[in-house]
Amino acid sequence: MRHDIVILGSFVVDLMGRADHLPKPGETVKGSMFKLGPGGKGSNQGVAANRAGANVTMITKIGDDLFGKVATNFFEEEGMDTSYVFKDKEIETGTALILVDENTSQNSILVTSGACGNIKDEEILKCEDKIKGAKVFLTQLETNLEAVESAVDIAKKNNITTVLNPAPIQPISDELLSKIDIITPNEVEASILTGVEIINMDDAKKAADVFIEKGVNNVIITMGSQGVYVRCNGEERIIPRYEVDAIDTTGAGDAFNGGFVTALGEDKGIFEAAEFGNAVGALSVTKIGTAPAMPTRDAINNFIINNTRN
Ligand code: RIB
Repeated sequence: MRHDIVILGSFVVDLMGRADHLPKPGETVKGSMFKLGPGGKGSNQGVAANRAGANVTMITKIGDDLFGKVATNFFEEEGMDTSYVFKDKEIETGTALILVDENTSQNSILVTSGACGNIKDEEILKCEDKIKGAKVFLTQLETNLEAVESAVDIAKKNNITTVLNPAPIQPISDELLSKIDIITPNEVEASILTGVEIINMDDAKKAADVFIEKGVNNVIITMGSQGVYVRCNGEERIIPRYEVDAIDTTGAGDAFNGGFVTALGEDKGIFEAAEFGNAVGALSVTKIGTAPAMPTRDAINNFIINNTRN
């Protein structure tokens, strides 16, 4: 059975170029590849969850333009519900300029939210029943903050498990944090939100303490090559990373979040769901691109069976 996951998040078109190194300020670098495709943290997480086996409703906003059609065509091909993909008559669909270093597989991103940064309160109200009926509600910080706050309020009032992936990082109120059941920052985002410099797992633990003081009960900090730090109801675990040949790490955090909420929706506990998300994240970096690199449930299951971790 596919469980209902509702995601409020961004859709933007990714314009991705690869080169043997990232340009320094003022430098022009010859690229080896260019690709245009669906992206945005919210949409990537939605596609990851959908392919992992969840029934996903995406709440987002696009422009009335060509890039907006990239969104609707892609969601339809993926078999995702587009009833809550709103259209802005004035603001264009967002874009992300992504540069990938093909030697290190690291990236830099400049994202302009465009239409999905203009989601109105009345649009969130139209989604109220959908959010109320969700098994899990997931959001990020790539749409406008007012929309995030309104949707989180609805989820919280209706006791829906609420997950916040605080990316891209920006200041958020303690009031918003206190309404979140599970927060899933990477180490940089967790450092900024808590004021704890995070280098190792001991630091992650200190940052988790700060989140808990602010009222978030469960904390997951993705720590790149060090693995994933998980704190759930006072118990903590470190999930080691999988050893894979990474060719593009863009969207790995999105893959983790999509996989995580899918497993959570299937009534897995937070530790087990984080293990599942960790596998989805690892698989996603073995392909080029963001949403198109998200693995299917069969691929995830095979990967888990066949791979050992460090
Ligand atoms: O997390 C990766 C995503 O961030 C990209 O798809 C890009 O759209 C940016 O928003």
